[in-house]
Amino acid sequence: MSADSTSQNPNPMTAPVQRPKTTGLHVGDARPGVSKVDPIIVADNVTRTFGGLTAVDVEHLEIPRNAITALIGPNGAGKTTLFNLLTGFDKPNTGTWSYDGKDLARVPAHKVARMGLVRTFQLTKALGRLSVMDNMKLGQTGQRGERFWHSLIPALWRSQDREIEDRADELLVKFKLDAKRDDLAAGLSGGQKKLLEMARALMTSPNLVMLDEPMAGVNPALTQSLLDHILDLKDEGMTVLFVEHDMHMVRHIADWVVVMAEGKVVAEGAPDEVMKNPAVIDAYLGAHQELDLGVVTGRIPVIHADPTTDAAASAAVDVTALESEASAELDKEDTK
Ligand SMILES: Nc1ncnc2c1ncn2[C@@H]1O[C@H](COP(=O)(O)OP(=O)(O)O)[C@@H](O)[C@H]1O
Ligand SMILES: [Mg+2]
Repeated sequence: MSADSTSQNPNPMTAPVQRPKTTGLHVGDARPGVSKVDPIIVADNVTRTFGGLTAVDVEHLEIPRNAITALIGPNGAGKTTLFNLLTGFDKPNTGTWSYDGKDLARVPAHKVARMGLVRTFQLTKALGRLSVMDNMKLGQTGQRGERFWHSLIPALWRSQDREIEDRADELLVKFKLDAKRDDLAAGLSGGQKKLLEMARALMTSPNLVMLDEPMAGVNPALTQSLLDHILDLKDEGMTVLFVEHDMHMVRHIADWVVVMAEGKVVAEGAPDEVMKNPAVIDAYLGAHQELDLGVVTGRIPVIHADPTTDAAASAAVDVTALESEASAELDKEDTK
């Protein structure tokens, strides 16, 4: 792996600095399933069907360590379902995968998170009736697994754990949310909720961060800041796998691109190469007859969250239930 710095912009005042891309990630020709020099995720024969529909059918996939990989593909390609499987929020019909050499297949979500793999959701899961700070603490305590509530509730009202709060404050400053620390998350803008979700994911100091459409619904004023945060994750030694539709952003920050269509990996490669690949253009045109190639060359399409997939993920982490349970507990505490 090597980082080339030839693309560094000498004058940061005129344009965002293009940070060096990580290259030399793969072994041999870039093709679907290509081996990586240092993979953090290795998946084999992962399938997931819903009724008669095959949502995911990935023969072999390796995600390179300490690089930013974009997972792209038309709506319904199986990107979110693959995220759900890899992070233990859904169970596959077949398949095995490992993270850092450890077998992860059928390991439940909270254990996956404890092993250093965290994800965010396509639909934001910030808890509206909790403060920004309490949402951050949830990121930490949520990793404790089965005894989730036993650990969460005391942390929420007693602020016992100085260390957790210090870590949260540090991240809130970094994500420019410190002024909102004690506000209810419901009052944040869509983009700020996305930032909060990313900040919360970092509470456990993960190694691999998976972001499902981090830019969707984000006001352009916050886009650059989100991109910078994603680039920072790599600089801090983390691995990023993210789903994104905006090809400008993919080109700008991804070191590697994996293209899915109809559940399969149909292409892989460096961003500029992949976008020229006929299989990629076909995948987009096949599913979006109404769109021209603007979709693969940088136009920002309107993204519709898939209610089926996100409903499935929501069932796994029933936020509404958590939220009402948390506020009930807080009310109880208030009246003591
Ligand atoms: N829980 C579910 N029940 C039924 N169908 C589902 C479910 N989750 C996903 N699907 C279907 O699987 C396919 C892949 O969906 P998804 O992973 O959300 O794609 P993407 O994230 O690439 O848009 C879609 O056809 C979707 O409707
Ligand atoms: Mg999706």
